[in-house]
Amino acid sequence: MITLNINGKDMQVDADPSTPILWALRDNLNMTGTKFGCGAALCGACTVHLGGQPVRSCVTPISAAAGQKITTIEAMESDKVGKAVQAAWVKMDVPQCGYCQSGQIMSATALLRTNKAPSDADIDNAMSGNICRCGTYQRIRAAIKDAAKTIA
Ligand code: FES
Ligand code: FES
Repeated sequence: MITLNINGKDMQVDADPSTPILWALRDNLNMTGTKFGCGAALCGACTVHLGGQPVRSCVTPISAAAGQKITTIEAMESDKVGKAVQAAWVKMDVPQCGYCQSGQIMSATALLRTNKAPSDADIDNAMSGNICRCGTYQRIRAAIKDAAKTIA
């Protein structure tokens, strides 16, 4: 049994320490907002924050989360920056199929926590690991800029 701090709450997970955070969330805790895409740190669909940094939960074992805070998409509606990002996503009508979007929002939120006025290059750099097969990149960039104005 491993204790994980997820979205501010300690939760018990009965899983091997090598289990990826993604599967502890989805299979053990029924938190399905974090998505499985590639399983190989290549697409960003599974992005969560670990200690405030965006990580690929499909390749990050729960043993690496000991003593650190995990934050998932489920916490974004009660997070000032996350809420602004989600509102901008709705305003700019960003999602198409939607599958990649929780990972996109987690990466965008991490960016805006450290950079409140990101340039196009900053956005491209921070979001380069998040793939969108529907090609919503232009709307993602516009939404990040819109959210930046909200939290400025
Ligand atoms: S599912 Fe983790 S990076 Fe693709
Ligand atoms: S909205 Fe479809 S993969 Fe990004």
